Amino acid sequence: MPRMSVAEDWTRAVDPARRVGRALEFHAEIGSTNDRAREALAQPDGDGLAVVADLQTAGRGRRGRSWTSPAGANLLVSVAFRPAIAPRLAGLLGVVAALAVRDACARIAPGAGLAIRWPNDVVDCEGRKVAGLLVETALEGEQLVEAVVGIGINVNWPVSEMAAEIRERATSLMTLTGAPVGRVELLRSVLDALSGEVAALERGEAPLGRLRASSWLDGRWVEVDTGAETISGRAAGIADDGSLVLDRDAGRISLSVGEVARVREMSVAAVRE
Ligand code: BTN
Repeated sequence: MPRMSVAEDWTRAVDPARRVGRALEFHAEIGSTNDRAREALAQPDGDGLAVVADLQTAGRGRRGRSWTSPAGANLLVSVAFRPAIAPRLAGLLGVVAALAVRDACARIAPGAGLAIRWPNDVVDCEGRKVAGLLVETALEGEQLVEAVVGIGINVNWPVSEMAAEIRERATSLMTLTGAPVGRVELLRSVLDALSGEVAALERGEAPLGRLRASSWLDGRWVEVDTGAETISGRAAGIADDGSLVLDRDAGRISLSVGEVARVREMSVAAVRE
């Protein structure tokens, strides 16, 4: 597997003027960067910290799954902050964070058709996963008081080296571009984009137009696992509060929580016949 031959200088990804990603901690090995970022929020200087690791021994994915990644190949980062986001916009944080990651990855792989698969996967035009986000928050009443945005991006990980069950539905930036990708530059770009999106949400601005333009599911028939049940329908966009709009025989609904368990590749015309 290609590796950067010179030690990476992660401090180049930091910008003290940003809303988030203004300080950085690097770990050659750690349990989970999300856990470390949550811990850091207990300290006064934890707000805006990015925690990066080459290897996680207990990396976590959504819904209790584990997140595996070979040492030094990918970008594993968690960003800790104390958000000042109005409750009406709080549900957008996860999808907006995914938009920031999509935009940063799209700068490296502009021809890959990168998009967001609700709620917060970044996928290529074929729906192969390039990045996943694990967003963990704490609320006081309706107010978000803590947020950790955990980001795992498949960077220099050849598809041929992925486990069979991952290879079927994932890809990496190196595979998409045909060349190794600098992780520090990518992180800098991710933190710039995430910082801009968080600051905008804090000003009360929601990037709904850009979000909707980047939604991969629109028009596709999906089965969404909400935890309590599986709901199927045709994805009809992202609502103003970040939930997924589904058209069903019984009418239009929106889901604020869930995970797309299956996507059925049927054209809208075929479904209507
Ligand atoms: C998913 O798609 O299920 C979310 C995956 C999130 C993985 C990242 S890697 C960095 C951070 N630390 C973790 O333990 N998880 C997130």
